[in-house]
Amino acid sequence: MPRQSLVKFQFISNSAEETRSLGVKIGKRIQSPAILILIGNLGSGKTVFVQGIAKGLDVPEDYYITSPTYTLLNEYPGRFPLFHFDFYRLENAADIYSTGFYEKLESTGIIAVEWADRLSEDLNVDHLRMDFAAREDNSRIINITAIGLEPIHLIAKL
Ligand SMILES: Nc1ncnc2c1ncn2[C@@H]1O[C@H](COP(=O)(O)OP(=O)(O)O)[C@@H](O)[C@H]1O
Ligand SMILES: [Mg+2]
Repeated sequence: MPRQSLVKFQFISNSAEETRSLGVKIGKRIQSPAILILIGNLGSGKTVFVQGIAKGLDVPEDYYITSPTYTLLNEYPGRFPLFHFDFYRLENAADIYSTGFYEKLESTGIIAVEWADRLSEDLNVDHLRMDFAAREDNSRIINITAIGLEPIHLIAKL
């Protein structure tokens, strides 16, 4: 079996607006179902990024996107349905089954998952992985790994 193609890229964001704009750019490029795996501490910018993705997917502006910390999944209509998961409160990886995550993986929507490091196994499908880290100033280092050809296209020449 050939290994999936993989591209890594680092983005420095100096403000919430820059992180949101990165999401808008990537969201606009989405032309087929995609999986966005978002890793990073509280406050590192994962939800801000998803707000940008929603904008790029033409989710109506009257939806205000917050972390689905208690609901585990929020769903928004757009060019593609956006399924926004947050696994922060999950106690163990087995509980992920009850969130509907694996069903949504088979759907034609866009999946964005905060705290995806709660997933016990590596995802064996193409996806974009984003690692967010806050620095002492307000900036964020965002390490992006694109796994598969479609995800690579999403981050090409950003
Ligand atoms: N460069 C930046 N990128 C993203 N968010 C930033 C940045 N600088 C400051 N912030 C602030 O940090 C917070 C990030 O919150 P949020 O996106 O909810 O984090 P997470 O979902 O990772 O817990 C927001 O209050 C945002 O305004
Ligand atoms: Mg969040």
